[in-house]
Amino acid sequence: MRAWLMDAFDGVDKMQLRETPDPQPGPGEALIRVKYAALNPADAFLARAMYPANPPLPHVLGRDGVGEVLAVGPGVTNIRIGEVVGVLRCDVGVATWGTLAEKTVIPAASAAPVPKGWALEEMACAPLALLTAYQALTQWSDPPAPPPAGSVVLVTGASGGVGIATIYLSKSMNLTVVALSRSAEKGAKLKQLGADFVFDPSAADLRAAVGKAIAPKKVDIAVDNIGGPFFNQVIAMLGYGGRISVVGRSAGPVPEFNTASLFFKRNRIGGVAVSDYTPEAAQTTFTEIVSRLDGLGKRPVVDHVFPFDEVKQAFARLAQGPMGKVVIRVAG
Ligand SMILES: NC(=O)c1ccc[n+]([C@@H]2O[C@H](COP(=O)([O-])OP(=O)(O)OC[C@H]3O[C@@H](n4cnc5c(N)ncnc54)[C@H](OP(=O)(O)O)[C@@H]3O)[C@@H](O)[C@H]2O)c1
Repeated sequence: MRAWLMDAFDGVDKMQLRETPDPQPGPGEALIRVKYAALNPADAFLARAMYPANPPLPHVLGRDGVGEVLAVGPGVTNIRIGEVVGVLRCDVGVATWGTLAEKTVIPAASAAPVPKGWALEEMACAPLALLTAYQALTQWSDPPAPPPAGSVVLVTGASGGVGIATIYLSKSMNLTVVALSRSAEKGAKLKQLGADFVFDPSAADLRAAVGKAIAPKKVDIAVDNIGGPFFNQVIAMLGYGGRISVVGRSAGPVPEFNTASLFFKRNRIGGVAVSDYTPEAAQTTFTEIVSRLDGLGKRPVVDHVFPFDEVKQAFARLAQGPMGKVVIRVAG
């Protein structure tokens, strides 16, 4: 088979498309012929050793994907040869070889059916971003649960995979969504996708404008995908008891942070880790997510589909800030 092999932790630009022996499924695993794969920023982070995983080299990236089951290992009863399945977030592309290959091995417990009526590329790009957004919205209750209806959610980096997933899931939970995007063009699309309000994060009067739009309410939960210097503004926009679910840091580290900003409004900050889902929890949660999207009549948003030999161009597109997910047609 051909696969995009990473020989060192020196970035996605150094990956090579080469022939390599087909992998074989072990107990509880399935070999799939990958039809579509989808990219995530963490793939590029892992390729630069900026991710808490240290897979043996060469490595193949790619955590999301959809493919046809070619073979199953001993003990697999939940999927059959010939079935087309999606991959729910697991070790694929992290500790084991991923979906940027013509064939890959996945745990059968992380194989999910393609939802009725969904295109294969929609399934390929759905699981990781949607599972992340679901955790970001529900993690403030124990056990996790949607916030009270009518709560206000602020989402940064809203045009990305996790951002759009957050908008969809928030609307399915009857929440009010304030979306932030640096692009007016993408902002208009975010409104069509369901955001109640869209603002440019660089606007001088952002805090006042957001406050006016949602008055008399305040921001209850911020889903922060970008971090960076803007993080302090996110804190400033929270209401009393407001929480920040920290998902990512596309804009880099937070340069300065004053813990006093949390005192008086009893704000809380909590990390999100999509890797925390067990295979069983990922299956249950993804089933709920699909039903929420179907209830809204929404589907995952594909920014662009690149051919298999243009994976590097696809990563360049991801770095620019896509509108939705960047997908690779491996053998469509
Ligand atoms: N914690 C977890 O378990 C977990 C899971 C998934 C993802 N993540 C992380 O969450 C972040 C978002 O993931 P994603 O898949 O949504 O990424 P994405 O598809 O690349 O989208 C990120 C969005 O953030 C904005 N953005 C990008 N660079 C920026 C910058 N320098 N300054 C300000 N805004 C910037 C862009 O939106 P606009 O152009 O519209 O402004 C972009 O569309 C990434 O850092 C990713 O690694 C974490």
